[in-house]
Amino acid sequence: ASLKSTFKNDFLIGTALSIQQISGNEMAIAKWVPGQFNAITPENLMKAALIHPEWNRYNFEAADRFVAYGTRYNMKVNGHTLIWHSQLPFFIRRVKNADSLRHFFTEHIDTVVSRYRGKVYSWDVVNEALEEDGSLRRSIFLELLGENYIIEAFRLAQQADPGAELYYNDYNIEQPQKRAGAVALIKKIQAAGVRIDGVGIQGHWHANDVPLEKIEQSILAYAALGIKVMFTELDLTVLPNPWDSNTADVSASVNGKRAGMDPYPNGLPDSVQATLSRGYANLFRLFLKHRDKISRITFWGVNDAYSWLNNWPIRGRTNYPLLFDRQNQPKPAFFAVIGAK
Ligand code: XIL
Repeated sequence: ASLKSTFKNDFLIGTALSIQQISGNEMAIAKWVPGQFNAITPENLMKAALIHPEWNRYNFEAADRFVAYGTRYNMKVNGHTLIWHSQLPFFIRRVKNADSLRHFFTEHIDTVVSRYRGKVYSWDVVNEALEEDGSLRRSIFLELLGENYIIEAFRLAQQADPGAELYYNDYNIEQPQKRAGAVALIKKIQAAGVRIDGVGIQGHWHANDVPLEKIEQSILAYAALGIKVMFTELDLTVLPNPWDSNTADVSASVNGKRAGMDPYPNGLPDSVQATLSRGYANLFRLFLKHRDKISRITFWGVNDAYSWLNNWPIRGRTNYPLLFDRQNQPKPAFFAVIGAK
């Protein structure tokens, strides 16, 4: 069974990949990925810090290979991401005036999008521009360019590749306050006469605590704006979030081990496998119920070995948030997802 064939009439199924995974020793993974997935997102290599390391220098090598890989295997490439406050190049930290930042902003979007015109299917044009209360994030872009920078980013991206789909992407935008901010932001873009094709809900949740009702309300609220809804960075952590009291109960099941250790050296216990399976099955049943509104589900990583959650929010943990284990074998959660169909 494969994810992409199971959901072929429902939505695209994507994964995030790093450059290592499509290079050298890891070529086996690169050949395996197209059997399960029909969409890919670069986990890091198109972020400004990597693709645009100096004022007048771009590093397109990894991105070129990534896009060529997607094209070769007929997978849709989602460019991630053009404008984001994080993983910015060092030189941006020294920028203190609006003109310099505007120069970077305009030239960066134009250069990157133009290069992959007709090859990259869609762009996460702006990433994480909202605070938890729904107001605009106090980023360098807001501070120096003013609130219309987001509209401007979409306008520039559309100019550079009129055929690419353009998305707003963020986390926690299923939560009511932040969702209201996202809805207002999208309406503002639309009211300016600028095209936005979709919204990406990142989907970094806890296996024990998936906010299904809020997710459903969000699917409906975003679809009502006439745009596509996507889940763009899906993973379900099985470890406690050190600053989230809602998941504090999970601490017991990891024997009090927090940082730098594998809480399950003898393998993931059945009870945790079951929690993960239930979390994913519930989600996919909801996705299928709204399949007419949802265009893509992307997992943030191919298998547990590559997940960013092994190093976030605490470095050196061993996490188990995806459908495939460290040997790239399907976990019970994989069969639960297939079974949701
Ligand atoms: C993460 C990557 O997975 C890590 O490898 C990197 O160190 C930090 O960024 N939201 C996003 C993604 O939009 O780009 C982030 O990816 C995870 C959170």
